[in-house]
Amino acid sequence: MKALILAGGAGTRLRPITHTRAKQLVPVANKPILFYGIEAMVAAGITEIGVIVGDTRDEVMGALGDGSQFRAAISYIPQDEPLGLAHCVLIAREFLGDDDFVMYLGDNLLEQDLAAFTAAFEQARAGSTPPDAQILLKQVPDPHRFGIAVLDDAGDVVTLVEKPADPPSDLALVGVYLFDASIHEAVASIAPSPRGELEITDAIQWLVDQGRRVRCELLTGWWIDTGKLTPLLEANRLLLERIDTHIAGSVDAASVIDGRVQVAEGAQIINSTIRGPVSIGPGAVIEDSFIGPFSAVGARCRVSQSEIEHSVLMDDSSVIEIPRLEDSLIGSFAEVSRTRRKPRSLRLMVGDHCQIDIE
Ligand code: DAU
Repeated sequence: MKALILAGGAGTRLRPITHTRAKQLVPVANKPILFYGIEAMVAAGITEIGVIVGDTRDEVMGALGDGSQFRAAISYIPQDEPLGLAHCVLIAREFLGDDDFVMYLGDNLLEQDLAAFTAAFEQARAGSTPPDAQILLKQVPDPHRFGIAVLDDAGDVVTLVEKPADPPSDLALVGVYLFDASIHEAVASIAPSPRGELEITDAIQWLVDQGRRVRCELLTGWWIDTGKLTPLLEANRLLLERIDTHIAGSVDAASVIDGRVQVAEGAQIINSTIRGPVSIGPGAVIEDSFIGPFSAVGARCRVSQSEIEHSVLMDDSSVIEIPRLEDSLIGSFAEVSRTRRKPRSLRLMVGDHCQIDIE
């Protein structure tokens, strides 16, 4: 089985951060979102991975390289414009050949491992009514934001609709799909949707309409489509919940480490309190500050005389003399500092290289 990971597209809902970087490379718990998906593939035994890349291809290719850091072999498939998820399958035809494959949306994060999902597909394909595709579904409170499935009495998929105004069910398609080679005929047979994209939901519906069987599995653990600030911070929180304490950097005698905290090599904690779960990246310097639960401070960040909680600070950013920063995402090389009067609590989303002086 091969994997196709989608890391192109535009990140309009995470601007300004995604003006300058791929949304799939925004870090949660100090690791780019995309790395979790690739690690999940490798853990499921899938090491031949094709990655769809768009405008941010240089950055994505720079971060993933040839895949050897993940013990995988990565090939890149450039997509000139984000013409839809089914378009990604269309342009990956040569890479995929006639193999079964898992398609994974690079901005999705799942708690559940993929091995059980792929094993269920393989088992069903060895059975008497082999499926040609398998999707993963999760009940959601806001179905109009997703692709939605309707099932028959046997639990197979009968109808799929993309972001319906009037949802026929609350079962959303999670961004992990399994296909056999019949999907290639499907993606070549559909027309663009009213929003101008070749929808994978339409391609799967085409399979159903041709009398093919589409299986589904229900997701039990959490799943986050990280495309916006609130879910991104939620993903950061859920992944930090899983960390164990590991202190490789230096913590001086005046500092307090409370709960599960990671302090990476070369990081310095000086006269500060770190209340976990918190991850502090390599080379970061935290001085006279409080870093509260569910915060991830990236590599080489500088935090001085500030209080931070439930926030992500991307690499090389600094927060200086801010009495309280919460629920925030601060871009790489951004600097948030106070010049005169004390502001109240701040909630910010700051793009890379910005400089914010609070007066
Ligand atoms: O997150 C689950 C949802 O993902 C599903 O419920 C929907 O059925 C599915 O269409 C998709 O909806 P989104 O609106 O969230 O898709 P988005 O445009 O964010 O694209 C998902 C990923 O695929 C993202 O990492 C960008 C990448 N992509 C997207 C398009 C449209 C590409 O690489 N190329 C593309 O042409």
